[in-house]
Amino acid sequence: MRCLLVRVGSKSYSLASYSKITGQMVRTSSSSLSNNPLVTDKAFIDGKWVEARNKVTFEVSDPATGDCLGNVPDMSASDTLKAIDAAKKAQRGWAATPLKERSGMLMRVKQLVDEHSEMLAEIMTLESGKPIAESRGEVKYGNSFFEWFAEEAKRIRGDILLHPIKRDSRYLIVRQPVGVAALITPWNFPLAMITRKAGAALAAGCSVVIKPAEDTPLTALAMAKIVEKAKLPSGVFNVVTCSRSNIEEVGDTLCKSKDVRKLSFTGSTAVGKHLYSLCSSTVKRISLELGGNAPFIVFNSADVDNAIAGAMSSKFRNTGQTCVSTNRIFVQSTIYDTFCSKLSEAVKKLKCGPGIDPTSSLGPLINNRAVIKVKEHVDDAVSRGASVKVGGAPATELGPNFFHPTLITDVPKDALVHRDETFGPMAAVTKFETEEEVIEMANSVDVGLAGYVYSSNAAQIFRVSEALQFGMVGVNEGIISSELAPFGGLKESGIGREGSIYGIEDYLDLKYINLNF
Ligand code: SIN
Repeated sequence: MRCLLVRVGSKSYSLASYSKITGQMVRTSSSSLSNNPLVTDKAFIDGKWVEARNKVTFEVSDPATGDCLGNVPDMSASDTLKAIDAAKKAQRGWAATPLKERSGMLMRVKQLVDEHSEMLAEIMTLESGKPIAESRGEVKYGNSFFEWFAEEAKRIRGDILLHPIKRDSRYLIVRQPVGVAALITPWNFPLAMITRKAGAALAAGCSVVIKPAEDTPLTALAMAKIVEKAKLPSGVFNVVTCSRSNIEEVGDTLCKSKDVRKLSFTGSTAVGKHLYSLCSSTVKRISLELGGNAPFIVFNSADVDNAIAGAMSSKFRNTGQTCVSTNRIFVQSTIYDTFCSKLSEAVKKLKCGPGIDPTSSLGPLINNRAVIKVKEHVDDAVSRGASVKVGGAPATELGPNFFHPTLITDVPKDALVHRDETFGPMAAVTKFETEEEVIEMANSVDVGLAGYVYSSNAAQIFRVSEALQFGMVGVNEGIISSELAPFGGLKESGIGREGSIYGIEDYLDLKYINLNF
């Protein structure tokens, strides 16, 4: 059912979208997901589908239309403690499950995700706005972590060392699960950020309490439905949902609980710092995957068409809302004009529209605050001398959360975009002359998640990719995410690595046993 429209000045907004902007509560319902068997209005604790203790719910809406997609429990501290308790009780048994059995259950989750991929993609697109082709891609990408970690579960290794002095003694080094892991996941990858964390945690023998973003709880609950079908033991996988107004209470409870031994968070640097400080009270293990401000550097020797393809995918994937999105494009002077004109042609071909429409290459942003931020970045750059080549304004004709694909050029290095992540569909290009100059500009930010380099000079590729203070560098490549590669940042972009052979380490404690016979 479509929601009622509210008129504000000359514009109409659907009631739920309007409520997202103003914070006012509205009650509407939608039939758009009513036939999707993975959709639920309950949270998942201790293998049971439950309401919040006080029965309060909050609304989940489609950022493209404002339609109400459903209501889910608005949980608070007492519900969170219940989930932690269930996870604690289940964890020992899970850790003791023979590796092949544990691995088999994770592989079963992977198979069920494959079987339900279209349903998961539909939920993701409707609640996050992501174009449907990208949601299908995210189901595959996200599921690659369950497959990967199901295998890794069998490869948790230890060491035996000879004693340096005593002939019959040994040093035994074992890896053990850290215990209960709290996973706080973002709205921009509602499925993959759960599987990347939970896949590693479960493989290691941890139980999990997941707190999904308030914008995208339905995907997390759909994953819980799948875990239930896969018959993982009760309490091993829990999902606690809450609205923005309860985030602080739920987050505090997870961070301060003595029974939670690990926190993994993906989200903004500001929130990450806050959670980091809260976790100090119980000296928890912590993984943080925080914001970036990715430089995309194109040298004169680069294959320009390949660089355009890379810039388009790394900038506009998920409508510019990824932590590894290109934020600052630096192009060397000789090819600057050619690059800008080709990029302009490519950006003009993008089509903005609801993600569920398969012809849309860009969806809505997550909310109107995100639209306002992109506009601020455009206006700031223009006020400092940049030119708008394509777009530059919200696409209000589509709804309050859309922004036209945008290209701005001649962006000066004091522009806001050079200090702050835009998290939207704005490509900002700056000209540079020398390698030293561009390395300095690229590294001038406090964050260091991903960076990209385009060049055909091998020596330059080594020099620059090693000099960049970023945890991940794409060389002549705009898409760097893979279950095989360690995902994570340097500086204020975070701590720890996800995916790859290293990702499971974040959920394992190293113990040394001195064996004296
Ligand atoms: C993110 O934006 O945090 C994740 C992006 C990815 O995994 O590619």
